[in-house]
Amino acid sequence: MKENISVMIPEEDVEKRVKEIAAQINADYAGEPVHLICILMGSVMFMTELAKHLTMPVTFDFMCVSSYGGGTVSSGTVRIAKDLAHPIEGRNVIVVEDIIDSGRTLSYLLKFLSARNPKSLRLCTLLDKPDRRVVHDVNVDYTGFVIPDAFVVGYGLDYDQKYRNLPYVGVVEFTEE
Ligand code: IMP
Ligand code: MG
Repeated sequence: MKENISVMIPEEDVEKRVKEIAAQINADYAGEPVHLICILMGSVMFMTELAKHLTMPVTFDFMCVSSYGGGTVSSGTVRIAKDLAHPIEGRNVIVVEDIIDSGRTLSYLLKFLSARNPKSLRLCTLLDKPDRRVVHDVNVDYTGFVIPDAFVVGYGLDYDQKYRNLPYVGVVEFTEE
């Protein structure tokens, strides 16, 4: 099978939206420090771009959670491959995700993180595919784009670890060679 990538959200649109989300976060926290938790690996590009436009004191941490194998269908189980390096108790935590699909990852993370008593806990995702939601108890505070049910890559998102470096969000199409 050959993989073709077509542009779904152009680079300029992603950049513009990331700045808008940052402006919203700046307004909401009014100068209070925020602690960004990047969900590896898909959220790396989004978190770093977002962080550049935040004006309050910002700290980072990273967590690696996986609910996917190598393909395009969720396995249904969430596994913590790397926990946080720093405590979150008493901090304003914002979980930064690349995409919400079934909702399993964030639902699990919310329970896991809230048990550590952060001062506040919010969710920020670049993309949301609501058509595919299986777990409905996830309240997202900041969403970049709501997209239809397609497998997307770029801006951090991968297909078999490829295409994370694309500066836009694209759709993978599979064709016979
Ligand atoms: P969920 O637990 O089903 O919500 O899965 C969320 C995770 O699955 C995301 O953080 C991505 O890593 C991955 N994922 C879901 N949809 C896509 C997609 O369209 N492209 C690439 N990765 C995806
Ligand atoms: Mg992810």
